[in-house]
Amino acid sequence: EKGGFPHFMIKEIFEQPESIQNTIRGRIYFENGSGRIQLGGLADYLDRLASAKRFIFCACGTSWHASLVGEYLFEHFTRIPVCVEYASEFRYRNPIIYKDDIVFFISQSGETADTLAALKEAKSKGALTIGICNVVGSSISRETECGVYIHAGPEIGVASTKAFTSQVITLSLIALAIASKRGEISTKLITEYLHELNSIPKKIQNLLSQNSIMQEIAKEFNNASNFLYLGRGFNFPVALEGALKLKEISYIHAEGYPAAELKHGPIALIDEFMPVVFIAIKDSLYPKIISNIEEIKARGGRIIAIASEGDTNIESLAEYVIRVPQIIDFFSPVLTSIPLQLLAYYIAVLRGCDVDQPRNLAKSVTVE
Ligand code: F6R
Repeated sequence: EKGGFPHFMIKEIFEQPESIQNTIRGRIYFENGSGRIQLGGLADYLDRLASAKRFIFCACGTSWHASLVGEYLFEHFTRIPVCVEYASEFRYRNPIIYKDDIVFFISQSGETADTLAALKEAKSKGALTIGICNVVGSSISRETECGVYIHAGPEIGVASTKAFTSQVITLSLIALAIASKRGEISTKLITEYLHELNSIPKKIQNLLSQNSIMQEIAKEFNNASNFLYLGRGFNFPVALEGALKLKEISYIHAEGYPAAELKHGPIALIDEFMPVVFIAIKDSLYPKIISNIEEIKARGGRIIAIASEGDTNIESLAEYVIRVPQIIDFFSPVLTSIPLQLLAYYIAVLRGCDVDQPRNLAKSVTVE
């Protein structure tokens, strides 16, 4: 059932070209060269979505990180403000929810107790509720008014991997559909972006074929006591997610930060024992992240960079470089998160950890 892989987690990481294909299937169409998005589950609500004043995304853990990427995507494309909330905090603070708010609940299992409770709260306040779930027929998918399944297929490993990338793809499709309805984006651009989305499975295949460098890095750093993950813009949430993956399966202390925040405190942690993983792809913030890398290098930190193919400049700054195929910056999290999943996996295996069943964790958190 693990398809020849030693653990479900690595099987699920390697399934991502296929799981993303399944997320996209039947939702992207090209007619006379023009791209169109069709999301059956939201079709009747698209007008309401397009005239919304505010969206709220409610989730926990990895799904909360996917929601943060979603915030960047939604605001970029739709120009409607988004609030991202931890379900566990939101539900207990008598949240301000207006009747014309649209609240999304993002959950792989669809059973997370805090997310479900937040959903009940939002419903009682009269907001439109939308589920983004993987498990078909789950509580959150049943209790929301409408929604979109991510169709990543069963995720058995406790650490969420393929659900994260499919959540991000689903949120991208919804954001583009709303933007198109609002007239915020031309058919020409939508078409270009949909072609780009279609190209992602192949790019992931390419990325996975460089797996051996991740094993090499894991060998070098599996005895570290701490790790930092840094990113900016669309890849700031990826830094948080990379750190969470490492913590939960290898038990190494790791933190993710927006790279520019480092100088406001955490830079004090940097010494020659601190591995720092930078997501430093060639996007509009590239020059900024390079200067952040220089700051860490000057203080002796050991740098691992997730960089774009063809970026030769970065080799002089980083001890290890992992190459991701070129992609439009707002879709990059689905690529950049994958080497971080692999890094966590290989480190955990070398440390002899139970990768699929990490201590103290359960796949679906049905208690609060
Ligand atoms: C991380 C992880 C957890 C879940 C969180 C939410 O790898 O698995 O952080 O992401 O418990 O679960 P769902 O998405 O099922 O609501």
